[in-house]
Amino acid sequence: MLVTPSRDKLNRIVVLNPKGGCGKSTLATNIAACYARRGPQPAIMDYDPQGSTIGWLNRRPADLPSIHGIAAYKKSMQATRSWQLRVPDDTLNLIVDSPASISHDDLRELTRDSSSILVPVLPSALDIDAVSKCIADLLLVAKVNRNEGKLAVIANRTRKNTKSFGRLMRFLDSLGIPIIAVLRDSQNFVRAAERGQGLHDMQPSRVRPDLEQVEKIVDWLDGWEARRRRAVQLMNTRRQSFANVTALRKPQARSV
Ligand SMILES: Nc1ncnc2c1ncn2[C@@H]1O[C@H](COP(=O)(O)OP(=O)(O)O)[C@@H](O)[C@H]1O
Ligand SMILES: [Mg+2]
Repeated sequence: MLVTPSRDKLNRIVVLNPKGGCGKSTLATNIAACYARRGPQPAIMDYDPQGSTIGWLNRRPADLPSIHGIAAYKKSMQATRSWQLRVPDDTLNLIVDSPASISHDDLRELTRDSSSILVPVLPSALDIDAVSKCIADLLLVAKVNRNEGKLAVIANRTRKNTKSFGRLMRFLDSLGIPIIAVLRDSQNFVRAAERGQGLHDMQPSRVRPDLEQVEKIVDWLDGWEARRRRAVQLMNTRRQSFANVTALRKPQARSV
């Protein structure tokens, strides 16, 4: 699996969780619709052979702000893979939608140049088990460093004050990975998906609580450069403290 080489100004957002139906495509399309409204045109890359994101884009009315679509799940015989996956030069935000069940190799490739990784998770015992494995793979297989601050979780289709919601929040809290939004189980997402829209294309007064959560996600995504800078600073500070400790421990040369 080849991906576009990293570019300094490109926010590569990967939406990932090998569990089907947890809301990856819903999240990817809503983020894309938000960036499209703000401009410049974002790109969405669909790695899922089911092609739901590209299907959504095909349903998108022509009068809505445009989104560049890349069907990464298709293997073209005519073009090289890197040509097929190219992202327009002026793109600032690329949203990558991923398939259910991915190999370790694909996981590494998908996340390699990412600036943000979003993991949506549903509040059921099975989903909590699946997401523990997904996060373990991200940390151990894809070598995503928690301190880089690029990993975040989104609780999806939640009903507050239910036992399963409480269990999910306690579990996510225990991981030490930020929960940046809590999306309700809401027909607004279903309706938007059917029409090729995101919540940002709908009447704000009708979708306000859900819209606010999508905006929280986008605010967090927008902070990717600051998060990266903080991670570098933290790494340098740790390296410096390590060097200081090592210097202190070195035996002093004895004078004769
Ligand atoms: N917050 C939500 N509220 C209601 N329905 C949702 C929500 N998120 C996702 N869905 C619905 O759940 C189904 C699976 O979502 P989808 O985004 O396709 O998951 P995935 O891409 O992870 O397989 C879809 O029918 C979608 O409309
Ligand atoms: Mg999907």
